[in-house]
Amino acid sequence: MAAAGEKGGSRPGWRSLGVSVILLAALCHGSSVERKIYIPLNSTAPCVRLLNATHQIGCQSSRNGDTGVIHVVEKEEDLSWVLETGPTPPYVVLLEGNLFTKATLLKFKESSRISGIAVMYSKPSPPEGFSLDHSCPNDGFGLYTDDHGSQYSHCNGSLWNPLGSGMSYEDFQFPIFLLEDDNETEVIKQCYREHNIPVNDTAPKYPLCAMQLISPMHAVTSTVTCMRRNSIQMSFSINPEAVCDSLAGYNVWSTVKPVNNSDTLPPEDQVVVSAARLDGRSFFWNLAPAAESTVSSLVTQLAAAEAIHKMPDSQSLPRNIMFAFFQGEVFDYIGSSRMVYDMEKGRFPIRLNNIHSFVELSQVALRNSSALWIHTDPISRNNDTVNTEVKQLIDVLKTSSKGTNVTLQDIDQSQALPPASFQRFLRVRNIPGVVLTDHRGEYRNKYYNSMYDTSTNINMDYPSGLSKEEALNYVTGAAQSLSEVATLLAKTLYRQAGGSDGAEIKADVNSVTRMLYGFLVMSNNSWFQSIIRSDWKGNLVNKPPQYYVTATSLGSKPSPNPPTSFLISVLANLTGQVVNYTKEQCQSPDKDAKRELYEYLWVQGPLDDNSTTRVPFCVRSTLRSHLAESPAFELNEWDSTEYSTWTESRWKEIRARIFLVPSHELEVITLVVGIVVLLASFTATYFINAKADILFTSAQDSGSVAY
Ligand SMILES: *[C@@H]1O[C@H](CO)[C@@H](O)[C@H](O)[C@H]1NC(C)=O
Ligand SMILES: *[C@@H]1O[C@H](CO)[C@@H](O)[C@H](O)[C@H]1NC(C)=O
Ligand SMILES: *[C@@H]1O[C@H](CO)[C@@H](O)[C@H](O)[C@H]1NC(C)=O
Ligand SMILES: *[C@@H]1O[C@H](CO)[C@@H](O)[C@H](O)[C@H]1NC(C)=O
Ligand SMILES: *[C@@H]1O[C@H](CO)[C@@H](O)[C@H](O)[C@H]1NC(C)=O
Ligand SMILES: *[C@@H]1O[C@H](CO)[C@@H](O)[C@H](O)[C@H]1NC(C)=O
Ligand SMILES: *[C@@H]1O[C@H](CO)[C@@H](O)[C@H](O)[C@H]1NC(C)=O
Ligand SMILES: *[C@@H]1O[C@H](CO)[C@@H](O)[C@H](O)[C@H]1NC(C)=O
Ligand SMILES: *[C@@H]1O[C@H](CO)[C@@H](O)[C@H](O)[C@H]1NC(C)=O
Ligand SMILES: *[C@@H]1O[C@H](CO)[C@@H](O)[C@H](O)[C@H]1NC(C)=O
Repeated sequence: MAAAGEKGGSRPGWRSLGVSVILLAALCHGSSVERKIYIPLNSTAPCVRLLNATHQIGCQSSRNGDTGVIHVVEKEEDLSWVLETGPTPPYVVLLEGNLFTKATLLKFKESSRISGIAVMYSKPSPPEGFSLDHSCPNDGFGLYTDDHGSQYSHCNGSLWNPLGSGMSYEDFQFPIFLLEDDNETEVIKQCYREHNIPVNDTAPKYPLCAMQLISPMHAVTSTVTCMRRNSIQMSFSINPEAVCDSLAGYNVWSTVKPVNNSDTLPPEDQVVVSAARLDGRSFFWNLAPAAESTVSSLVTQLAAAEAIHKMPDSQSLPRNIMFAFFQGEVFDYIGSSRMVYDMEKGRFPIRLNNIHSFVELSQVALRNSSALWIHTDPISRNNDTVNTEVKQLIDVLKTSSKGTNVTLQDIDQSQALPPASFQRFLRVRNIPGVVLTDHRGEYRNKYYNSMYDTSTNINMDYPSGLSKEEALNYVTGAAQSLSEVATLLAKTLYRQAGGSDGAEIKADVNSVTRMLYGFLVMSNNSWFQSIIRSDWKGNLVNKPPQYYVTATSLGSKPSPNPPTSFLISVLANLTGQVVNYTKEQCQSPDKDAKRELYEYLWVQGPLDDNSTTRVPFCVRSTLRSHLAESPAFELNEWDSTEYSTWTESRWKEIRARIFLVPSHELEVITLVVGIVVLLASFTATYFINAKADILFTSAQDSGSVAY
């Protein structure tokens, strides 16, 4: 601006330039004021809106965000200030994690004085436990319904998750954000302490520190409504913009012996299925550490797969073994219901009648004095044939546990299965199978589907002062314990597949160690870096992966979410072979004679000797990914009660910031002054225009300055 002022040398242009400079200066000044006042919050996790056939759940802000004066609520007594006595509503509550309960939130829901909530982590995790899921998870979509096994429906007989508040399934009309970074929380608290603390219970003086939470949601009411709107948009709009997307991702599966992906197995080929889930959730979007609920079984199954592939006779076993990882199971069994659906339709290489038996791992990291519980389904065991095979499977399990530090425990045959993908298979066919867990009745996991189900929850303790590389290879108690379960699982599957006693099978505790680190502490570690598929390297971050299933616009082919991409890369590394292919051959193996049997992954590879560039290579394995989108969307049955109907609303922007608000009087004065200035500038412009002939006589001189 200074430069522009100097340029205007000629006398007549000088005055109009002066006016412009002042106006420009005011504008610039204005935006620098904005920069000073607003502090964006950079590490938050929002609660967003999800919808099913009949309901909407989650949170939303109003269109332009909701603003309120910040008030810190750290104990029960602080509530009365925001709910009753505080003189400057509405409030945004900075809520201590211990008070983030359904009871408190229901109070906020009823009050008109609350415009939003920013939740702080409770540190350490609440010792009494904390779960945001239902006390009876996945109720209504598993095996036991009012039509089938009604004596077991609604967790009758064993409530699996008694700590579950169901808060994740409530609908809130205000925004709720989680503050993920303690330093940012401290910045907010500092602003609160300086401006908002009530002194001797009298109202604090303006300006006050306020927070704005912005998370408006496009979809309302239910999946039925939003899908109808989507289709109206698609048919009538030039710029079609969907309002909601289905929750979907990929199941991952692999077999010990390759199967032809463009064919279906003949009925006499028998397959033993080993299953685990691949997703979790919490109240907040894309926040799902899922250590015990998901990663414990995922890692164990991977280690078992590695151990079996190492057996020299694994390719000649009488039966094949399939390892399945199901996606979206938290949301009414999206992945397993889709696989069963495709198997029934003959669109999957393996059919239901190929399944010989089924072993599922559920939560297994919190074993009490080495106990692992065997759950079975009482209804299918009424059939003698099935019952005999279940008993044989249990015998195999027990024999396999000899020599391992796992004590298998039976459960009374009349107890129903806990929530498990296996239930979706049993819905359509009596398959002999078991679900293995670390709990007999209620979950031992105190933090099921909450943000506290982290590595700490499964006792992964690292001594302080370890480097990243040392921690990656540091064998924790959790790794030791899970590798024992993996050994048991591998031996069991090997025998179920018709192998000999398999005494030499042993899961590699070092693999388990590195997997636990990568899946729960930091995906950006040297091992994941060297085995990840090249085009997925952007998924590696210096943080734990989050196991939320993610949303996918209908009909599109999504790319796998980060944890799925890690799983694929690890499974390929542990069970595949390095092949001598160029990048082109690896990425488009169309000419390969065995392309229907294998999948090829071009991986980043390890650093070379100079630690500068990587040496990529091609890995061949039998793993496949399988689209896990609920059949309800293929069938256009958006009100299905058979299949999951969960969708996620779309939104334009989500962010949060804090700033100082002046009193209402001052705001009014500012507004009035602003209007006066505006009017004055209009008048000035009018006069400058009117007298332009006089003001700009020597137009040629000032022509270089264009306004
Ligand atoms: C949708 O979710 C709500 C909230 O969890 C639940 O009450 C309702 O039964 C669900 N609807 C269906 C069809 O599953
Ligand atoms: C928070 O602040 C501390 C001390 O100022 C610093 O050491 C730490 O790295 C910060 N944490 C984050 C996540 O920025
Ligand atoms: C967020 O990042 C911006 C830009 O880096 C920084 O100015 C601001 O202070 C950060 N917010 C907080 C609360 O630290
Ligand atoms: C608050 O009250 C106490 C005792 O009644 C008094 O000593 C103190 O000066 C008061 N503080 C302010 C800031 O008014
Ligand atoms: C896989 O199955 C297809 C269809 O039956 C067949 O044409 C193809 O030859 C098979 N591939 C292999 C490698 O067996
Ligand atoms: C038991 O289950 C098997 C396999 O599903 C089936 O073939 C058989 O008919 C069933 N028997 C009875 C008595 O239902
Ligand atoms: C991952 O780690 C490497 C060092 O091992 C580092 O150079 C890189 O910046 C990290 N990536 C991210 C996204 O933090
Ligand atoms: C798996 O990873 C290890 C360590 O990075 C590497 O030595 C090995 O060659 C990899 N194997 C496969 C099949 O990718
Ligand atoms: C590996 O690649 C090299 C160079 O292209 C070739 O000479 C060799 O025959 C290949 N080996 C195999 C087993 O394909
Ligand atoms: C390592 O670096 C040296 C010098 O920069 C170079 O001559 C050599 O080829 C490099 N080695 C590898 C394996 O890239």
